[in-house]
Amino acid sequence: MNPVERPRRLRHSQALRDSVAETWLRPTDFIVPFFVVPVAKLEEPIHALPGISRYSVDLLLFQLERAAKRGVRSAMLFGVLPQSAKDSEATSATDAEGPVAQALRQARKVFGNDIVLYSDVCLCTHTDHGHCGLLKETPRGVVIDNDSSLERLAAMALTHAEAGVDFVSPSDMMDGRVGYIRQALDRSGHTEVGILAYAVKYASAFYGPFREAAGSAPSFGDRSTYQMDPRNAREALREAGLDLSEGADMVMVKPALPYLDVLARVREITQLPLVAYNVSGEYAMIKAAAAAGALEEARAVREALTSIKRAGADLIISYHALEALEKGWV
Ligand code: PBG
Repeated sequence: MNPVERPRRLRHSQALRDSVAETWLRPTDFIVPFFVVPVAKLEEPIHALPGISRYSVDLLLFQLERAAKRGVRSAMLFGVLPQSAKDSEATSATDAEGPVAQALRQARKVFGNDIVLYSDVCLCTHTDHGHCGLLKETPRGVVIDNDSSLERLAAMALTHAEAGVDFVSPSDMMDGRVGYIRQALDRSGHTEVGILAYAVKYASAFYGPFREAAGSAPSFGDRSTYQMDPRNAREALREAGLDLSEGADMVMVKPALPYLDVLARVREITQLPLVAYNVSGEYAMIKAAAAAGALEEARAVREALTSIKRAGADLIISYHALEALEKGWV
């Protein structure tokens, strides 16, 4: 018997495929991540992330201009500090003259409200030990102390709010930080500043290149007592649910590609914007495979980014975004 159903009829030509495509990428889907350093006139390529550099605040402004030219409206800022600026209390996290605070003020001055600014809120680039929270001695040994970290994180969020951020983005994974930060913002009159919660953040090997880029590798142990166990998906719904109930305005799943199942499940429990972080290791893998001639970079990038959107993301944080838009890959 001849086939009754013929799905191939809908794939005959590019024109037809385009007309029935379910998923599209637009420049406004992207949040471009940037590493900002506290010196002037510096562009410093990052070995582990080919094509990506750290920028001083003055040169960052040109990159934001470059993004705007392609229709990208959103940037996520990460501060990178020399080891000499770090201590056990993460003092530099609340420096109003730190690289992120300066970048926020300058970017706001130049672009006004034509840009949506996000800032990573975490202590790992400010502590001398590289953990995302403060340490405490206990009878069970040294632990990452949840509640004293909350205070520092909230103070860091306030520093960014005062510098003009749109969304502070806590990535530390301490319990209760979204509610704590929300309250701190509100009490200081920053009711209009939002929170993009890194709600579902796994303890992942795919952050490797980022830690070189930001100089934030922990000096002992790993992040498994605060970041999530990759074996768990129900726990992701719990984490997302908590951040939603604590007042997050958007929630994130991170990493993206190895966790598309989790992204799709979180999609089902929230009406808020859902963000996926296509992290440094995901980027580096495609770059390495392309450099080895193993695959076509343009198609691989398009497919990877499309699959993140198809799985349910509204916004994608990706190191590929600018290059992909400039070269017409998406
Ligand atoms: C800070 C932070 C990390 C990333 C984003 N915010 C590193 C980590 O948790 O170790 C990773 C992003 C990436 O790999 O691109 N805690």
